[in-house]
Amino acid sequence: MSDPTPIPDAAVEAATDAALAAVTEASTVAELKAARSAHAGESSVLAKLNAELRNVPADQKAAKGKLVGQARGRVNQAIAAREAELAAAEEAAQLAAETVDVTAVPSRRRLGARHPLSLLMEQMSDIFIGMGWEVAEGPELEHEWFNFDALNFDEDHPARAMQDTFFVDPPESHLLLRTHTSPVQVRALLSRELPVYVVAPGRVYRTDELDATHTPVFHQLEGIAIDRGLTMAHLRGTLEHLARQMFGEEARIRLRPNYFPFTEPSAEMDVWQPNAKGGARWVEWGGCGMVNPNVLLAAGVDPEEYQGFAFGMGIERTLQFRNDLNDMRDMVEGDVRFSAQFGMVV
Ligand code: FA5
Ligand code: MG
Repeated sequence: MSDPTPIPDAAVEAATDAALAAVTEASTVAELKAARSAHAGESSVLAKLNAELRNVPADQKAAKGKLVGQARGRVNQAIAAREAELAAAEEAAQLAAETVDVTAVPSRRRLGARHPLSLLMEQMSDIFIGMGWEVAEGPELEHEWFNFDALNFDEDHPARAMQDTFFVDPPESHLLLRTHTSPVQVRALLSRELPVYVVAPGRVYRTDELDATHTPVFHQLEGIAIDRGLTMAHLRGTLEHLARQMFGEEARIRLRPNYFPFTEPSAEMDVWQPNAKGGARWVEWGGCGMVNPNVLLAAGVDPEEYQGFAFGMGIERTLQFRNDLNDMRDMVEGDVRFSAQFGMVV
C-alpha cells in the first residue's frame, strides 16, 4: 500500500517558496538560468513531486494534481517575468554604453600651444618687468654695425671670428643674421632716455652644428642697465635674483673672467648643476660684464656720467638646466609630445 500522503501540501509550498525566492534573487540572465534548472528543471523538487502524482490514490489525484500544477505554473510565470525584466535591464545598459552624443563637438585636431622656449622667454622677461625693467626687441636680420662695430668688435679683431656668422648676400648690404642679442643694447641706448633698464629676448643664429648642447638657431635673453653709479655688485645681484627665480632658492652662480669686446671687465656666468648627467658641475649659462665705454660712446652716452652692466644668456640652456633635459635637439624637432610636457598654454 502506498503512503497515504505521498505529496504533502507543506512540501509543495516549501519548494514553491524556495523557487520564487531564487527567481527574485537572480540579478543576471545567467543567474536566472541557474535558478530555473535548480527549481523548475527535471531534477527539481517540484518535478519530483509531480512525478509522485502517479502514486497518489485516485480520490486525491485531482486535488494534488491541481496543487502541484498551480505551483509549477507560478514558478514558471515568475521565471518568465523575471527573464523579461532582466533582458530589458541588460538592453538598457547596453544602449547607455553605446550612446552617441550627436551634438558633441568633434576634436579631430589638437589645439595649438606656445612652445616651451617662448613661454620661458616670457617668464624671464616678467621677472625683469617685476623689477621695473622694460622689454625691447631688435631685428633678427641685423646690420653688421649693430652686431659688431658698435659693440667694439674691431674690423679685423679676432673676436669677429669668435662667433660664426651667417652673412647675407650681397656683401655690400652688410646685413647678417644676428649672432647674439647684444645689438639690442645699442638700439636701446639710441632710442631711449637714460637711465635704461631693458631686457631683450629673441632668436639668434650661428653656424654651429646641432648637438646635445648647441643649435644653429637658438635664443638669448639680453639685459642692459645704464645709470649713474652702477657696479659689478649690481650685476651680480641681478643675475643671482634671476637664477633663484629660474632654478629655485638653492641656485648658485659663478662669474669667471672672460673676454667680450663690448664689456670690460667681462665674465662668463656659470650655473651649478647638481643633477647634471655624469655628476654635479658648473655649466656655462651666459656672458656678462660692465658695458665698455666705447659702446656707450657709439650710442652717444657720456661714459663719465653713466655706467652700467650687460648680460646675455641662452634660453635653450636655461630650459635644459631648469628641467634636467639632456638633449637640446628635442627642443627643435617640433614633436608635440615634447612640448606637451610643459603644458599646452595658448
Ligand atoms: C654672447 O653671445 C654674448 N653676447 C653674451 C654677453 C652679453 C656678454 C652681454 C656680455 C654682455 P656667448 O657666445 O658666450 O656670449 O653666448 C651666450 C650664451 O648663449 C651661452 O652661454 C649659451 O648659453 C648660449 N649659446 C651660445 N651658443 C649656443 C648654441 N649654439 N646653441 C644654444 N645656446 C648657445
Ligand atoms: Mg660663451
